[in-house]
Amino acid sequence: MGENLNQVARAVIAPGKGIAALDESPNTAEKRFKEVGIPNTPENRRDYRALLVTTPGIERHIGGVILHDETFWQEIDGVPLPAYLLSRGISTIIKVDAGLEPFEGSQTEKVTKRTGLEGIEERLGGYRENGATLTKWRAELNVGEGFPTERCIIANAELLGDYAERSIKAGLVPIVEPEVVSHGLFDARRTYDASAMALEKTFTALRDRGIELNHIILKTNFVTPGEKYQPKLSAEEVAELTLGMFKELVPKEVPGIAFLSGGLSDGESAAFLSAVNQSDRIDVPWILSFSYGRALQREALKAWGWKAENARRAQEIFARKAEIYSAASVGRYGIAQLRVG
Ligand code: 13P
Repeated sequence: MGENLNQVARAVIAPGKGIAALDESPNTAEKRFKEVGIPNTPENRRDYRALLVTTPGIERHIGGVILHDETFWQEIDGVPLPAYLLSRGISTIIKVDAGLEPFEGSQTEKVTKRTGLEGIEERLGGYRENGATLTKWRAELNVGEGFPTERCIIANAELLGDYAERSIKAGLVPIVEPEVVSHGLFDARRTYDASAMALEKTFTALRDRGIELNHIILKTNFVTPGEKYQPKLSAEEVAELTLGMFKELVPKEVPGIAFLSGGLSDGESAAFLSAVNQSDRIDVPWILSFSYGRALQREALKAWGWKAENARRAQEIFARKAEIYSAASVGRYGIAQLRVG
C-alpha cells in the first residue's frame, strides 16, 4: 500500500496536471451562487458540478477533483460522480473536514472543527469503497494584529496530523492544507512568518505521528501581501519568497505541493504558479502544481448563470482555465496565454 499511496499522490499532480477544487460547502456555494443569481439548491449544485466535470478534454490538465460529501454521493445521468470521474481518468478527492469554528472563543482566529474526526474511520471506509483515492482537510489561519498565535497554529496542525494519520490508515492520500488567508492589510513578511510557522508545526505534527511524508500532498498558499496591501509583489518576488520558505521547511520526501488560489486573480494564479516553475528555479525536489477553486471556476460560473444555452460557453472557459494553469505548472504560462487567450 505504501508504494501505492506515493504513486496516487504523484499521479494526481503529474507534470501538466493539477487539481480542481469543486468542494465548496453548501454555505460557501450560497455566496458564490448569490453573486450570479443562482438559487442555491442541491440540484443546482449538482448540475453546476456536473457541467464542470463533463467538460470535454479536461482530463488532459486535471488529475483530480475535490468533492464535498454532498456531491460525492450525487450522480450524473445515473452514474455516481466518482465513477464518472474514474471513467475519465480523473481521481476523486473527498473533503473530510467539517469546516471551521472560533479558536477558544476568539473573534478572529479559527480552528478546523474537531467533530470532523468523529466517526471518520467509517466515513473514510465508505469513501474508499465508493471510489475516492485521496482526501482533503483544510485549516484556516488569518493574519492581523497579534495573530495568528502559535497556540492556534499548533491546534490546527495537531488536527491536520490526526486527520492525515487516519486517512493514510484507510489507504487514502491526505492533502494536508494549512492555509494562510490573504484577506487584509499586511505585507508579505507577515504572510511569510505565519506560513512558515504553519508549515513547521504541521510537519512536526506529521512526524510526531510517524507519518510517511512521501504519502501526502501539501496544499498551501503563495507568499503574497494581504489583498488590500500596496504595492503588490511581482511574480518573481512571490516565487522567490515562496520557494525560499519551502526549501527551509518542506521535507524533500513530500512528493508535491499544490497551491490554492485564495483571493488571487486568475492572472496572478497563473503567473505565480508559472514563476515557481521557471526552469532556472526548479532545483527543488517537489512537483509544484495547482489545486484551484475560485481561479478555475469564477469566470465559468459567471458565464453559465444557470442558463442551459450558456453551458457550452461555460465549459469552454473552464477548459481554457485548466489549460492555462496546466501550462503554468510546467513554467509555460506566457506561451499558453498567447495560444489560447
Ligand atoms: P481556492 O483556490 O478558491 O482558494 O480553493 C481551493 C481550496 O480548495 C481551498 O481549500
